[in-house]
Amino acid sequence: MAKKDILSIYDLSEKEIKSLLNKAFELKNKRKHLTELTGKTLGLVFEKPSTRTMVSFAAAMVQLGGFPILLNAQNLQRKRGESIHDTSLALSRYLNGIMIRAFKHSDVEEFAKCSSIPVINGLTDFEHPCQILADIMTIMELHKIKTAEGLKKVKIVFIGDSNNVANSMLAVSAVLGLDFTLICPEEYAPEKALLNKALEYTAKTGAEIKITSDVSAAKNADVLYTDVWISMGAEAEEKKRRKVFAPYQINADLLKKVSSKCIVLHCLPAIRGEEITTDVMDKYEYSIFTQAENRLHVQKAVLLYLLK
Ligand code: CP
Ligand code: NVA
Repeated sequence: MAKKDILSIYDLSEKEIKSLLNKAFELKNKRKHLTELTGKTLGLVFEKPSTRTMVSFAAAMVQLGGFPILLNAQNLQRKRGESIHDTSLALSRYLNGIMIRAFKHSDVEEFAKCSSIPVINGLTDFEHPCQILADIMTIMELHKIKTAEGLKKVKIVFIGDSNNVANSMLAVSAVLGLDFTLICPEEYAPEKALLNKALEYTAKTGAEIKITSDVSAAKNADVLYTDVWISMGAEAEEKKRRKVFAPYQINADLLKKVSSKCIVLHCLPAIRGEEITTDVMDKYEYSIFTQAENRLHVQKAVLLYLLK
């Protein structure tokens, strides 16, 4: 069978997403140490810092009987100019799978094209697919939704920067046919091509996608989601971003607009006082850290699917 990569949410069909979510719930409920990946090795390459992605993938691999190898990109020969092609070919001879966190999405695509092992996107400038699978799992869990079909009744609102995380949420909403509103400043709206790709799905899946700069669109949200205003790699725009994004903060005022059963999500790390206030972080600690925990269960489902 040809190897499978997960570089984007669009690499997964609706059926595959549902099956990964089912598996993640099954694993969460079982909480058993498994042996399915005994003897298998996963490489974890990081060009950028990570807490959750690094540790949840490593722990997931161990809990499935496999072995994770953490690779700081600074220590690879790639740093001294070795090509992506050669790196990919060499690592394919040692590992059974590889997760890469990189600055450039195109680099991960090039790596995947050359590799003979499954490649998983652990965050690029473009997407964060494993994060978003855990987010959907969390929404189902906390809103007590049993099937992906039930998700369609939930109004999901992402407010802030239309970055990698928002892009993946847009993509999963398109594929699963969800009700998704992205609230962001006009100049930080998603690229046309990205939006068009999502819209291609809506006719088929019935997704309700709305993109606006109007904060009042958070009205009646059942899920309010945000991420940092200054993503890794966007530091040069720090000053400008703080100013442009200031009206897009999740705070007590914004929470007055949402539905009574609304949960707040944050992929973390959070900058309290910027995209989310401390009081909101504290109030929604349970949903935000359940979301963080669910990274582990989703990584396990992903690893079993790709590496078993
Ligand atoms: N949410 C997330 O990917 O966190 P890390 O950057 O800590 O991995
Ligand atoms: N958008 C953030 C996500 C961090 C998990 C970043 O890319 O830095």
